[in-house]
Amino acid sequence: MMGCMGGGGSRPFYASLLDMPELTPEARRIIEAEAQWRIGWGSQAVNVAQVRLYQALAANDPAAMLQAAAGIREGLLRLESGTAALRAVETGTPPRQFALAWFRDQMAIPASEASPMVMNDGPWGLFWYHLTTMAFLAVALILALLIQYARMRRIGGLIARLTPTAAGSAPGVARAPGAAFVASATASPNTGTASPNTGTASPDTVPATARKPWSGKLRVAAIFRETANVKTFRLMNPGGGHIPFTFQPGQFLSFSAEVDGKPLRRAYTIASSPCQRSYVEVSVKREEKGAESRYLHDQVAIGDSLQVSGPSGSFTFTGEEADSIVLIGGGIGITPMMCVIRCLTDRSSPGDIFFLYGARSVEDFVFREELEYLEKRHANLHVIATMGSVVESTWRGAQGPISREFIARSVPDIARRRIHICGPPAMMEAVQASLLELGVAKNKIKTEAFGPALGRAPSGPEAADDSPPLPEVAVTLPTATAQVEFSISGKTGALGPDQCVLEAAEANGVAIDFSCRVGTCGICVVPLKAGTVTMEVEEGLPAEDKARGMILACQAKSVGNLVVEA
Ligand code: FES
Repeated sequence: MMGCMGGGGSRPFYASLLDMPELTPEARRIIEAEAQWRIGWGSQAVNVAQVRLYQALAANDPAAMLQAAAGIREGLLRLESGTAALRAVETGTPPRQFALAWFRDQMAIPASEASPMVMNDGPWGLFWYHLTTMAFLAVALILALLIQYARMRRIGGLIARLTPTAAGSAPGVARAPGAAFVASATASPNTGTASPNTGTASPDTVPATARKPWSGKLRVAAIFRETANVKTFRLMNPGGGHIPFTFQPGQFLSFSAEVDGKPLRRAYTIASSPCQRSYVEVSVKREEKGAESRYLHDQVAIGDSLQVSGPSGSFTFTGEEADSIVLIGGGIGITPMMCVIRCLTDRSSPGDIFFLYGARSVEDFVFREELEYLEKRHANLHVIATMGSVVESTWRGAQGPISREFIARSVPDIARRRIHICGPPAMMEAVQASLLELGVAKNKIKTEAFGPALGRAPSGPEAADDSPPLPEVAVTLPTATAQVEFSISGKTGALGPDQCVLEAAEANGVAIDFSCRVGTCGICVVPLKAGTVTMEVEEGLPAEDKARGMILACQAKSVGNLVVEA
């Protein structure tokens, strides 16, 4: 195009046309002159080339033929450009538009693509096509940035919700990192029941408002016998897939059932690792006096559905709270410790894990093979067990209670470590006393106990436990000094100084709903009409409810008379 539209002068013809936005008389004159010249020159060039072509054909000279053909082609192009220019002048087409149309025609650019090029000029000397494209790209870029910003905000919110915090670590899970509480079970001492009902919140306990735990049915997928009287129940989602909640190592689930027409509700610590999302396991010791444990051991079979709610509890350790952990467990109090050990080894947590365990006998050493296996695989796991009585001749470990000496020789530099204790109350009292003597600060000790309601050294049949004999502990069992009146039912009962309102209600046949029994779920909340109470754990009681005179029945204790609306 440049060749054929180039004129004989120093400036190409097409370039001159681009400088002519309007078809002025002057432009018309110039174009007509150029067109006439092109038509004349082109016609003459075609004639001359034709003659040369005849001569080349006659001489059978291919090179001359090609040269003649090129001459004809060039002449025709000149002729064509001239006639096109004349035609454009006749139709009044602006020169610039004509030049672009010619350019498009010669370059074989489709009209649809080239059409924007012939649109009117936009501002700043740019074509509207370019401006529109740039505007479109700018809008698309802004939209992409806004979408990205919104996504980052949503991800940030999600992370904030799922990241363990002082108030909670998983949806619907009450958690107070490092919270310590002493606990005891109402009716099934040492049954693997984590139904703590008294508590001493540690300094880092963080109050939280009541949260509704997950509640629903889980299917019994497998049952494993661990020892003569301990079974593990593996529970799975009836619909398949992951279990429908997450939990922290050390939390527990509440189980509800109706046995012989009576509603039962008991809590059991989760023993499986939270890394295992396909199932959750609880290990339960069968107690002759424990209706729920007998029901689970004797009646529940694979394929049955169990009503479960939870998880609850703040006796947790994820590996992030301290660089090492000392776990001290007695009897079936091993279950929360197994959950922590399984979790930390699953995650290859690098900190030292010391597990000091006391069992009544080698036969009662729950999870012994698994612990030995894990200890071989994980150099940072140290399992040191002591048996109350030893019959097995191959036992090379310690014998006797978890004493101060046993602790001191098992764990180096114990005063600087975080310590979790779980077992019957008497064992915990003895172990705590030993730890204090070894220089461990109180706020480094986190506890959860299984035991009778009074939270004292058990006596009589309820004291039965798998942990070894305990050192002498001076214990004075309290006597009931106060009364609690239940205003709705019209019943009145004795209230011991270490007895909570919920236990007094149960003892007198007054129904108060409950779930966790550790002060976190808020289900046992009742109005206090008269008297004053103390509550060791108040996580499940919002401040506004407390201000309105509500109490947690599973936590409320008093040495004075009470009137409770129940
Ligand atoms: S039973 Fe959960 S707070 Fe009392």
